[in-house]
Amino acid sequence: MAETTTRPDLHEEIHEIRRDPGAYRVLTGDRPTGRLHLGHYFGTLRGRVELQDLGVETYVIVADYQVLTDRDVAERLQEHVEDLVLDYLAAGIDPRRSTIFAHSAVPALNQLLLPFLSLVSVAELGRNPTVKDEIAHSRQAAVSGLMFTYPVHQAADILFCKANLVPVGRDQLPHLELTRTVARRFNDRYATVFPEPAALLSAAPVLLGTDGTKMSKSRGNAIALSATADETARLIKGAKTDAERHITYDPDARPEVSSLLLLAALCQDRAPEQVAQEIGAGGSAALKRTVTEAVNDHLAPMRARRIELSHDRAHVRAVLREGNERARAQADATLDEVRKAMNMAY
Ligand code: TRP
Repeated sequence: MAETTTRPDLHEEIHEIRRDPGAYRVLTGDRPTGRLHLGHYFGTLRGRVELQDLGVETYVIVADYQVLTDRDVAERLQEHVEDLVLDYLAAGIDPRRSTIFAHSAVPALNQLLLPFLSLVSVAELGRNPTVKDEIAHSRQAAVSGLMFTYPVHQAADILFCKANLVPVGRDQLPHLELTRTVARRFNDRYATVFPEPAALLSAAPVLLGTDGTKMSKSRGNAIALSATADETARLIKGAKTDAERHITYDPDARPEVSSLLLLAALCQDRAPEQVAQEIGAGGSAALKRTVTEAVNDHLAPMRARRIELSHDRAHVRAVLREGNERARAQADATLDEVRKAMNMAY
């Protein structure tokens, strides 16, 4: 019998995955551009930890080359990479069970880009809506070849380990579609080497930042996972709400209030309507007190772990080195298969 849950972020597929975790291999990851925030956490990070804990083999990629798609230099890259790994470890990614690695450290993964590029047309690359959007918001005067082709590189990220499940946000769906196309065309043209991976979308609605627009690092409206309890309280206190005193969950009519309710609900594993009912006529002040307490309580163990881990940078680097090593062995094996399939095994 299916389990009932009030959790707003749980995807339907979880029941199937729970039945046979060994049938799945997950790859997902992030660009190292700064600390992860609550949107990342409830959007995908928490889900990754759940999959890992169910026994699904999990790869987590630090996409350092992708940082160069829309800027000339990756400033403070080392620091951002270590921050990202710290966020992963603090959130519960366990390096003994999951492989955390940087794609720049895995030469055979990058070599897959060459045959993969031969399988897609320039017109197809030009149609990718996420890339188009990124080009429109780019800080570079000209569009680099990397910007144009990075979705193919992302296909290599996913296919080098033959992942069949990719937990991502909605903006990544065009890249997943391209990955499936590359896998299918490779298999048709040469030999069946790759699975056609499926996207796993979080069911959690998008969290809004403190200004009422989508929570995002670059908008300066995010609450970092690693923020202190006081910083969190201050940020939530300054969050936009509305003038209606009675608190109700109504995402269409009251997006800011509803996003705050959702945030508390996600932290407390319950329905946002229930949180709203409890606050009732308490108004914005009571809402913000509730949300602050929910976030700080939920994140306290993670934050404590992160502070402890941050004192041992050598450990963080060792986690990445070992992950790179494991990813290299996997990529070498896949590239061997690819060479054989392409009659390039000399
Ligand atoms: N493009 C993703 C992002 O911007 C990061 C990423 C790189 C990724 N390679 C990936 C995500 C492979 C999933 C799978 O967030």
